[in-house]
Amino acid sequence: MRFGWRSLLQARAGGTGGIEAKYEQQLLNKLFDLSGKTAYVTGAAQGMGSWIAAGMARCGADVALADIGNEEKLEGVAQRVRELGRQALTLRVDVRDRPGVEQSMKEAAEQLGGINILVANAGGYNCCRAVYPHLKSAGGGKVAYCASKGALLPLSKSLAVAWGKDNIQVNCLLPGAINTPFLDTVVNTKDKLDYLMDRIPAGKLAYSRFTGSLWLKRSC
Ligand SMILES: NC(=O)c1ccc[n+]([C@@H]2O[C@H](COP(=O)([O-])OP(=O)(O)OC[C@H]3O[C@@H](n4cnc5c(N)ncnc54)[C@H](O)[C@@H]3O)[C@@H](O)[C@H]2O)c1
Repeated sequence: MRFGWRSLLQARAGGTGGIEAKYEQQLLNKLFDLSGKTAYVTGAAQGMGSWIAAGMARCGADVALADIGNEEKLEGVAQRVRELGRQALTLRVDVRDRPGVEQSMKEAAEQLGGINILVANAGGYNCCRAVYPHLKSAGGGKVAYCASKGALLPLSKSLAVAWGKDNIQVNCLLPGAINTPFLDTVVNTKDKLDYLMDRIPAGKLAYSRFTGSLWLKRSC
């Protein structure tokens, strides 16, 4: 079925939940076709990582779900990926441990047939180093960082320049305040919340489920 942006927006504004969900799925498929691709997502057990992983699967990718712990939640995300008809592999890894990251990417590539996309939602440097040979041997790929630390900005710029010749794109995302368990640990008093809200022009927090599509846009 073909549809235009206008009818899509109309359906989203006034349609029933069922129609909206159907169009949303069609929109994702139309914009981001990740069939045959494998995404490696770090920090995948909760918050933004879990929504990114589900978004990748919704667009047709198999997903390697890497996290330092949170096994039960990670398995829940894997279940969601499988319900969407894609393969999921859960990997316990600390992104600060370079050999551990390399080993887990090797395992992901062996079990899921390579790696095409890295979403370094938790950690960055070690994951980029480890993913490069996999993306190169796949003939190219995409890397998306979550840069809460300024140091990742120049790093992503230099990697984008260095890896461009290998058909690898590197993008850096700088999320604002997103309502995740992470935010609860940082904004844990009313004063801090008031301070934060005063600095958000829209006056509301973003939700991790909505950041999923932003990450997709940068990773596809
Ligand atoms: N939430 C925000 O407002 C916000 C804003 C800017 C940047 N960020 C950054 O975005 C990323 C994700 O944020 P979130 O809010 O979804 O976080 P979150 O705390 O809700 O989830 C982070 C996940 O990463 C995993 N993790 C933590 N350390 C790890 C490690 N060393 N190795 C592997 N996995 C690890 C955790 O177990 C958890 O499942 C973080 O890097 C955070 O700094 C968040």
